[in-house]
Amino acid sequence: MDVKALVAQMTLEEKAGLCSGQDFWHTKPVERLNVPAVMVSDGPHGLRKQDEKADHLGVNDSIKAVCMPAACATAASFDRALIGAMGEAIGSSCQHEGLGVVLGPAVNIKRSPLCGRNFEYFSEDPYLAGEMSAAYISGVQSKNVGASIKHFAANNQEHRRMSSSSNADERTLREIYFPAFEISVRKAQPWTVMCSYNRVNGVYASENPWLLTGVLREEWGFDGYVMSDWGAVSDRVAGIAAGLDLEMPGSGGINDRKIVEAVRSGKLDEKIVDQACERILKINYRYLENARPETPWDKEADHRLSARIAEECMVLLKNEGVLPLEKKAETAFIGEFAASPRFQGGGSSHINCFKITSALEAARDLPVTYARGYSVESDSATDEMIAEAVKAARAAKVAVVFAGLPDSYESEGYDRRHMALPECQNRLIEAVAGANPNTVVVLHNGSPVEMPWLEKVKAVLEAYLGGQAVGIAVVRLLYGDANPCGHLAETFPVKLSDNPSYLYYGGEGNEADYREGIFVGYRYYDKKEMEVLFPFGHGLSYTTFVCSNLRLSREKITDRETLTAAVTVTNTGKRAGKSVVQLYVGDRESTALRPVRELKGFEKVELQPGESRDVTFTLDKRAFACWNTQIHDWYVETGAFTIEVGQSSRDIEVSGEVTVESTAELPRRYTADSIFMDIMADPGAAKAMGPMLETVRKAFGPGPETSEAAGEAVSGDMSMAMLQYMPLRGLMSFAPGQISESAMEELLKELNS
Ligand code: BGC
Repeated sequence: MDVKALVAQMTLEEKAGLCSGQDFWHTKPVERLNVPAVMVSDGPHGLRKQDEKADHLGVNDSIKAVCMPAACATAASFDRALIGAMGEAIGSSCQHEGLGVVLGPAVNIKRSPLCGRNFEYFSEDPYLAGEMSAAYISGVQSKNVGASIKHFAANNQEHRRMSSSSNADERTLREIYFPAFEISVRKAQPWTVMCSYNRVNGVYASENPWLLTGVLREEWGFDGYVMSDWGAVSDRVAGIAAGLDLEMPGSGGINDRKIVEAVRSGKLDEKIVDQACERILKINYRYLENARPETPWDKEADHRLSARIAEECMVLLKNEGVLPLEKKAETAFIGEFAASPRFQGGGSSHINCFKITSALEAARDLPVTYARGYSVESDSATDEMIAEAVKAARAAKVAVVFAGLPDSYESEGYDRRHMALPECQNRLIEAVAGANPNTVVVLHNGSPVEMPWLEKVKAVLEAYLGGQAVGIAVVRLLYGDANPCGHLAETFPVKLSDNPSYLYYGGEGNEADYREGIFVGYRYYDKKEMEVLFPFGHGLSYTTFVCSNLRLSREKITDRETLTAAVTVTNTGKRAGKSVVQLYVGDRESTALRPVRELKGFEKVELQPGESRDVTFTLDKRAFACWNTQIHDWYVETGAFTIEVGQSSRDIEVSGEVTVESTAELPRRYTADSIFMDIMADPGAAKAMGPMLETVRKAFGPGPETSEAAGEAVSGDMSMAMLQYMPLRGLMSFAPGQISESAMEELLKELNS
């Protein structure tokens, strides 16, 4: 379709109208020109296609669909192909249902365990979130259906979600909060981007030209359309000028009229409206011209796929020899979640499942007894319930407690208030562990919880919100029909107050200051050398793996070259399994504050017992760079970097070192206030300083080289140490008469040339 020609035939009113939804889930048709409406739907881990009674909070029913594991779980798979397959399945179901865009993935960074929507987000790590997101988008879009990556940007709390301003510095946004979007745009080119509700540094994301046009389109090359989150528009005219193409769900025509008035009064260039229409229509026709309503949707097959994905996501956090369970052994399943699991989160992603398989149902052929343990609805456990659970635990060889967060504890729309499990569940676990030394805990939660009972139980399986087939995956993993291979995409802190955002999270009024900066998740815990409950990247298996023999292709590269890092991973145990090989990069010597290590590569590898395989990573400039606020670009500071490979951020097995040399020069802006240390660290400037150094030596005593010979090492070092923080102008105060004003000017010219 020649959308330019189509838009040229439209009246201004029709064009303004096209820039907002017809209703909750459709773009506007232009009947006069036979332009049809296109339907969109949540997202992200299955369809929430609503027929009537539309809402954006998951309140009213939608069609029967298949609920896949939520992003908190899928990220833990560390498996791009797997999440790609999930995207393909969702894309196909969209084709079947006549949906042009699915509203997801949601890629916001987990800044605090308190965010009510963490279950829908991938990770505390931007690289992992970006890789998972890109794989999902490619999967969906391979079916000629668009994805809408959301919520752009810095949307990391639900508290005051429609008014709060996420105030973060440039480096923090670039290094932590943007890359998941950037990677997705560069690798997978999502058809649409959904801007977030919040403001970013004071400006609503929906009317932020820097975000929606500067960064997204001009820097990253996004070429689809931007839609608003539902009701995220404050000033529509400012929004469309900033790059917000489609307002959803719409304003009953009020904002359309404002666009028309702004064009008529000369405040808004009509070309901007044309451009928004062209972008929307280009995407709509990309779907319409490839619509395949005859695509079958085999929900049973997707249910099985959902089980398989869940199996690859769950994280075995702890196992002291009790798992896998023997099929013959009497086992007690305790806790209401065994019979009715919590497998998805509340809000706009809520799916009306065609079927749900609980663990109890999946284990129906095994010698399993059941005790309810607690009531989710009343959030309590009676003495009788606990007594019944204890009795069941005593009678069994192994007791498995199914615990987790009820819907009321975490959801879209509000944040958690603490990181604890319901008190009744903690009490139940303690009682059961007291009654049976072989107690296992299975967790259903979308974000970390504190585990005061951890030492008293033998094993913990983090099942996250594992989708509608969660029970199948849990049972297969518990009994060893499948081998756990999920790894944490987030750190589990010991307690909430350990989290780096703890002092500031939520903000004051509408101001949420991201004062911890780039030190989010393990970037903070590792730098602080803090004890954590479970580190980022952690995950056990029923077999063991060893990474060895790290080979770096070069000892030294420039930032224009790439480094290849190869490592051998071996299954040293007795079962087949999948290892997640993780590569971290750390800047050894840097003037910028940097984390100890940052994830820059990962691969999931399946290995038979005894089998070894080589895994190769290619690292380019971005693996070493940090955002430089002087040049507003990525910059690698020349120096040594560590390359670490292991099975979690705290389980590094092999490491090496490479020197990376910068080919970019930072602009020199020396003044009389510049200090010696900075000047001397810059080889060019240090050279220019040459002749002046003699004057310096005279004024401040001998430097370390000469003083050592004279046996004055200490005093010489000291004067040099003090000198390093001295501004150039200090020469005039401390070596009066030895440097004239004009000589200083000359020197500065020289230094800056
Ligand atoms: C959510 C979005 C969702 C939209 C439509 C909003 O409240 O933030 O993630 O896609 O509603 O349901």
